[in-house]
Amino acid sequence: MRPQQLIETARALVADDKGLLAMDESVATEDKRFAELNIPQTDDARRAWRELIVTAPGLGEAISGAILFDETIRHSTKDGIPFVKVLIDAGIIPGIKVDAGLTDMAGHPGEKITSGLDGLRERLAEYSTLGARFAKWRAEIILGDGIPSRACIEANAQILALYAALCQEAGIVPIVEPEVLMEGDHSLERCREVTEEVLQTVFDKLYTQRVMLEGMILKPNMVLPGLTCPIQETVDEVADATVTTLLRVVPAAVPGVAFLSGGQSAELATARLNAMNARFKARLPWALTFSFARAIEEPAMEIWRGVDANTHAAQQRLVNRALCNRAARRGEYAASMEAKQG
Ligand code: 13P
Repeated sequence: MRPQQLIETARALVADDKGLLAMDESVATEDKRFAELNIPQTDDARRAWRELIVTAPGLGEAISGAILFDETIRHSTKDGIPFVKVLIDAGIIPGIKVDAGLTDMAGHPGEKITSGLDGLRERLAEYSTLGARFAKWRAEIILGDGIPSRACIEANAQILALYAALCQEAGIVPIVEPEVLMEGDHSLERCREVTEEVLQTVFDKLYTQRVMLEGMILKPNMVLPGLTCPIQETVDEVADATVTTLLRVVPAAVPGVAFLSGGQSAELATARLNAMNARFKARLPWALTFSFARAIEEPAMEIWRGVDANTHAAQQRLVNRALCNRAARRGEYAASMEAKQG
């Protein structure tokens, strides 16, 4: 473990009101997004989309770190420059998703567990030589009748803690992502209760596994009503519930909390982050920032649609979305900042 290096990287990831871009979709997830927009689901198209992102002029103004996928960390631009070098030259720290995805949890119908611990020490060593300075691991907690079970919460929290300890051993900052899903008709209160229990459990296991809190980032869900819940609270109510929950369970030693967007619309995710910072920033012990995939990429992908001629306009929209989120870190976002036409 190199404590000072971990602390410096974690601080750099949340410095200057910037945030993270999660461009770490697996091949299956990226192909699904492409299919929805009739973009060919090919290696070339995935590489071109990722090149569009990493070469977007000005991206480093709003993005401190980019989470790559195994395929992407090995990719280069069509002119042969490795993506990792393009990012570093733009002032963006390269990171890597290291979990191997979800599997059904034995004995617990409807619940998932994240795999990928086998061989992780060796994979982290390789990613470190490829330039990754931080990593991500996502656990998924599903809300439904009788779930999540205590067993699911504990197992996922334990695995997250083992992953985080291995990352720190390798000098890599772990992004710890226990995502309570927004799919379902549950209330905001139910999401709040479960998020609190999950985060309590995660920090308990992180402590037991001797993870250094100053050298990690938490990536949680916001506390939200289910997507199909008939009562949808206001932006300010979501901000209050989320911050209240985090203050109860996230130790002050953690440098940053970087939210996933989880399927919220891009603008709503930004407005909610903005409300949290506008209302509470002066009282918070950690930075409240973003680690969005869809809420930064989706509007740009809708402009691009796999067509070269749309690349420039798509890049402008991507950077505009990233800058809107940077403004939300300052509590200065307004819907009028959205450059809808790219
Ligand atoms: P979304 O912002 O699209 O939820 O993705 C964030 C992420 O990295 C999920 O693991």
